[in-house]
Parts: sequence; C-alpha cells; structure tokens
Amino acid sequence: MFYSEELVEEIRSRNDIVDVINSYVSLKKKGNTYTCCCPFHNEKTPSFHVSREKQLYHCFGCGAAGTVYTFLQQYENYTFPESVVFLAERAGIALPQREMTQSERQEADYNSALKEVNKAAAGYFYYALRKKDGEAAMQYLTGRGLTPETIHRFGLGYARLYRDDLYRYLKEKGYADKLLQDSGLVRMDEKQGPTDVFWNRVMFPIMDLNGRVIGFGGRVMGDGLPKYVNSKETPIYEKRRHLYGLHLARHSKREGFILCEGYMDVIAMHQAGFDNAVASLGTAFTIQQAMLLKRYTDKAYLAYDSDGAGKTAAQKAIPILREVGISVRVIDMRPHKDPDEFMKNLGADAYEERIRQAESSLMFQVRMAAEDYDLQDPEGRTRFQQEAVKLVAALPEPMERDNYCEAIANRYFIDKKKLIEAVNRYGKYRTEQLRYQEAVREEKPQDIRRQERIKERKQQPQMLLLTWLVNYPDQLMPQLKGRLTPEDFTEPFFRELAKKLYKQYEETGEMKPAVLINQYEDIEQQTRAASVLQTVLEQEPSAEENGVVITELVRKVKEESIQYQLAHLQDYGKLQELIQERSQISGWNISFTGG
Ligand code: UTP
Ligand code: MN
Repeated sequence: MFYSEELVEEIRSRNDIVDVINSYVSLKKKGNTYTCCCPFHNEKTPSFHVSREKQLYHCFGCGAAGTVYTFLQQYENYTFPESVVFLAERAGIALPQREMTQSERQEADYNSALKEVNKAAAGYFYYALRKKDGEAAMQYLTGRGLTPETIHRFGLGYARLYRDDLYRYLKEKGYADKLLQDSGLVRMDEKQGPTDVFWNRVMFPIMDLNGRVIGFGGRVMGDGLPKYVNSKETPIYEKRRHLYGLHLARHSKREGFILCEGYMDVIAMHQAGFDNAVASLGTAFTIQQAMLLKRYTDKAYLAYDSDGAGKTAAQKAIPILREVGISVRVIDMRPHKDPDEFMKNLGADAYEERIRQAESSLMFQVRMAAEDYDLQDPEGRTRFQQEAVKLVAALPEPMERDNYCEAIANRYFIDKKKLIEAVNRYGKYRTEQLRYQEAVREEKPQDIRRQERIKERKQQPQMLLLTWLVNYPDQLMPQLKGRLTPEDFTEPFFRELAKKLYKQYEETGEMKPAVLINQYEDIEQQTRAASVLQTVLEQEPSAEENGVVITELVRKVKEESIQYQLAHLQDYGKLQELIQERSQISGWNISFTGG
C-alpha cells in the first residue's frame, strides 16, 4: 500500500458510506439502518444493511460486508488503491502524485500489475494494427465492414507474426518474467524460451466494467483453426464474471441488454446503433453475469445464433436470467445466422422490427419443445404437452400462468381448461418434490456440518460479546477491567479483533469499527470483521435482562478461555491459579444501563 494510513482514513471518513452505496443501489431507510436487495447475490427480500453510524455494510444473506472501500472493490471491481483514488476524487482530496519506481511496481498490488501489463499489451497491439505489417489485419477488419471509429472504440489491434515480439516489448518496459507468464500473454516454452501466446491474429481486448483491459481474444484472419485464441483465466480475468462490451453497453440509452454469442456480433451491433449489446466470453452464460446485468436493467433480449448450438445456448441462458429477475425475449434472426450477418444483409431498421417482435422466453421454450416432438403422433403430442405444462408451472404468478395457458392452447390447439388443470396439478406435485429434495440436501455432509456447528457454538459468545462491546463501549468496557482481556478470546480472528478494539478504546476512548476494518489488508478479513461488528443485536425488553445476557456471554467467553488454557497447560504452577480464577466466574455480574 503506498498511501499512508492517515490519508486512507481521512478519505474514508469524508465519504459517507450511505451516500456512496446509494449512488449504486437504491437504499431504503429502516430505523437506524438502510436496506436493499443485496447487489452481490440474488434475493427477493432485502437483507443488505448499511449503517451510517458504523459506516459499514453487511448482507445477512451472503455475508458480504465491509467499509466503503470494500464495497467499491466488490462492486466496481476496483483494486484497493483504485478505490482510494476514486473516493479521494469524490471528496475533493488531493492525492500525492508520483511515478512508481520499478521496485515499487513489483511490490505494488499484484492485480494492478496484471492490469498494467494487459493495458501495455493492448496499446502495443493497437499500434501494430496501424503500422505497415498490420495492413493485412486492417484489411481483414474493414473487409468485414467495420469502420475506423468502431475499430477504435473497441480498441482492436494486431499481434504480429514473430515468436516473442510482445514479450520483448514488455520486457523492455521492465516487467518480470513471472508476471508476464501469469498474465497469460507469454508462455515459457521449455525449448524455445519465452513465447507469445498470440501470433498473427486480430486482437479483441476484453475490458472490465470500467473499461480496463483484463484479457484478449485473438481471431485468425480467415478460416484457420482455432478461430479464436483467448487469454487464460487470471486473478483479474474470471470469464464467468465479465461480459464483452458491458463497459459501453452499461451507458446505453436503449432499453435492456441484447445478449449475443460472439465478439464480432457485439461489435457489429454497436456499429449499427444497438449499443446495448454484450456477449459472454466464449463460455456458457453464468449467474454472475446475469447479476451483473441486473444492476442496470430487468430486461434482456437474446440474439444467439439461429443454429442448433445457438438455440441450446438460449435455452440454458433463459432460466439463469429469470432466476435473477430479468425478463427475457428472444430475437428471431432467420434466415440469417447471427446479428453480424443480419446487419450486413437487412440492416438496422429491420433489426429494430425484430426486436419489437421478439418472442417471450416462455413461448420460445414451448416452441423449442414442440420442435422436439412429432405433434401428429398422439404419444409425441402428449409428451409435448407435458413439457409445456412443466414450463408454465414454473412461473410464479397465477395470472401469468393463465395467460400463457391461453396462448399455448390457441397456438397448439389444446383445450385451455385441461391445460390449466394440468399446470395446477403439476405445481402442487413440484412443491412437494422440492421440499423433499431440500430435506435430503440438508442431511448430506452431516459430519462436517456437525463439527462446524460445535465449533460455531463455542465461538459464538466471543462474536456476540464483541458486537455488544462495539455498540456499548462506555457501559461495558470499564466492567471488563481485570476480568477479560483480548487473550481470553480463543478464536484467533476474534482475538486479533479484540486486541484492535481494546487498543482503540484505550487510545481514543471510542470504538470506531470502520477505522479498525481499514487496518486489515485482506478483503476477506475485512469482510469477516465487518460482519461481526455490524451484526444487529437482539435487545431484550429491559436493561436488567440485557445485563443477564451480557453477563452470560462474558462468563462463557472466560469459561472457554480457561478451558482452553487448561488443555494447553505447560506450566503446572499455573494450574492452581486457573482453578481459582474459574471459581470466581460464577460470581460475576455485568450490569447494563444503555438502551
Ligand atoms: P463465433 O464462432 O460465432 O465467433 O463464436 P464470432 O465472434 O461471431 O466471430 P465471426 O463472426 O465468426 O468472425 C462465438 C464466440 O465463441 C468464442 C468467442 O468468444 C466467440 O466470439 N469462441 C469461438 C472461442 O472462444 N473460440 C473459438 O474457437 C470460437
Ligand atoms: Mn458468430
């Protein structure tokens, strides 16, 4: 980290967490906290809480938690230094500016370094496309109908026909072999030495949400195989978490997103004015990608290829999109294969019309099922009807189910009443089945779960006590003097957290969780600490009863501590002391006056 701790803290304190998070999601005030549906997992009732007082957020559903910095790292995919820069700017705080030296560069956050390498490579490819030996590549792209603006907007480039061209360029810029290998741009070949992964290909940089290059797809110019070579997965490039073109599409004014299959489709669509097109990265569409889209819209259009593979891919993507609450329509591009081809032959106006006529995903699914069976044959017809019933029964809204029954009944000449009955019967059966499956799943990894539960039960008082301390330091800390020290927390993480809290209270007379969490460098630790400190306490109706609860917690923590020390005893002179101490615990009473 190259910003001082004081500066990081100053920046944090000048960016109110509620305001920052509210600019991404819409928070609702509820008592002392602000809530909404969690942006990090899929849910229908809000379990995401933000506290202005503590300057922390926490999701009770998925466990995401942290400070305003953690939020930006999780939501915007920023590295820690990037979130510092962002928030400093937001608060109008000037940051010390300077170039990093080479040794600092090596030390600096590894992910930033990986992004830096990718950016340098993208620059190099971009430049090569515009030089003499990039002419054939440029011709290939313009030959496919791309304009210079489009080529520029997508940062397209060219990897030249030399074995270690890029390697030598990046080496000259001072990057270490290990980093280059980890970036997926260079392979360490046993016989030949360092070798570029991409040769003689047109290069498509893949960017994250913020337009920073995180990987590449390289297309052969012509019909060679493989058609595309892609960057391998790296810590900054997890294919399931990114979408090609989203950095542009997220600013589109058009309604919803258009989901395509390929890089070329996205580019052709944007060029034709459909700047809401995105594509997954040569892998099947994932739930993470669906959630990413859900941040911006609840509508999507599928523009997958018209061939069998495209239809199958569409059938897989539909339930994933629905799962996160995105309604889906399917664009029919026949007789053309994909958006790129469609645009070239029929143009943007015709495409606009196809968007208007796009079929609801359910009718698409039913149509696909109809194609699988021979509807003239009674058995085929029955099987098809069963498929249709399953699809409709999965819809959550009764009204919607009825409407679809009607549409299907009309299109496929089925008796509407019978269809509705079948759907209702199937719905009941399905609920039972799900309930049964849940029960089975709960039972499976029994032993592991049991052990975890025992461990959790032992540690829970430590966690709860920390939560009480953070909420009522002035009432409780003085009473713990001489009774409980941080060393009494047996779970290492809680012990560390207790040390930090005690120290902060001693030095400042206050407990500020957000300040503490900044002291953890690791995002997972930040998350864990935040979730402890952010836990909402279940208050008892009266101060006396709260006192009873806290007393019980303190006793349990001490009890466990003594137990632990007895089990790990080296010096038997201490035995007497511990037994003595234990005999006093039952006489402790902690009173509670806060509320
Ligand atoms: P397509 O073959 O449809 O490619 O594969 P495309 O992008 O439309 O390219 P053109 O129009 O044929 O030139 C769809 C996507 O599947 C992945 C790429 O992400 C591609 O964009 N893919 C395809 C690969 O990763 N490797 C391959 O060899 C082929
Ligand atoms: Mn294609």
